[in-house]
Amino acid sequence: MSTSLLLISTEAGVRTITINRPDKLNALNSATLDALHQAFGEAAGDDAVRVIVLTGAGEKAFVAGADISEMNTLSAVQGRDFSLRGQRMMRFVEKMPKPVIAAINGFALGGGLELAMCCHLRIAADNAKLGQPEINLGLIPGFGGSQRLLRLAGRAATLEMCLTGAPITAERARELGVVNRVVPAAELAAETGKLAASLANAAPLALRAMLDCIHIGGECGIEEGLEYESAQFGLMFSTEDMREGTGAFLEKRKPVFQGR
Ligand code: COA
Repeated sequence: MSTSLLLISTEAGVRTITINRPDKLNALNSATLDALHQAFGEAAGDDAVRVIVLTGAGEKAFVAGADISEMNTLSAVQGRDFSLRGQRMMRFVEKMPKPVIAAINGFALGGGLELAMCCHLRIAADNAKLGQPEINLGLIPGFGGSQRLLRLAGRAATLEMCLTGAPITAERARELGVVNRVVPAAELAAETGKLAASLANAAPLALRAMLDCIHIGGECGIEEGLEYESAQFGLMFSTEDMREGTGAFLEKRKPVFQGR
């Protein structure tokens, strides 16, 4: 299935969603935000989808930010609504019950970095540039950037990036913990594919429980986080996948997980 704003394909449990506005460096306008929200909703509800890869069309950009031409004419109320629209979509991505990998194939600026930071794993091409340049537009990040960058990279790096607006290299982003891996640009698709394939073969319910634990743990105290982990751990004993995984180990064979 494909629409003009997004290209969507599925192969061996991996759904690839490609933001498809290469002539505008995949800038996020309202229609693209809504299309992404819908596409992630469909991926969440489709049992054939085990992993989602998000990337940008073309050679230059993952996403070069929220659409500046759309923002230029917004009123204060419309600006707040635009922010909420993006935040809702990105929170939905962050809370997806399946792993989401951002393949950062170039500029990830403003809303592009914010979108990448909602994904669970980030692989960047070595020529990618990442930043929060909103200050250069008389703006601030509006899709969660000030909050998520702070949590990923810490206060000093976040202040520097947001106050100066200067982009950083992929390698610097890896040093700061903003991306997981940096690979040569020509190998980005293949390396992302390998990671996605390994996750597509993992136990889906355990992946989901792990994502939940890590999100909850990032947002609550240690006691509540540990309690939640125990509850999720116990829940795994009701799954066929847990019997399959432990049984396959004991029988010295590869497990086949069904998501049950
Ligand atoms: N919103 C809307 N359009 C954008 C855009 C954005 N965030 N980023 C790029 N575009 C458009 C450009 O206006 C241009 O359109 P045009 O051909 O109709 O004029 C097209 O994408 C190509 O961009 P261009 O600036 O010509 O490419 P470049 O290689 O010279 O520069 C960037 C690349 C990323 C450095 C530059 O496009 C840029 O600074 N973009 C804005 C980044 C930003 O501030 N993002 C945060 C927004 S809150």
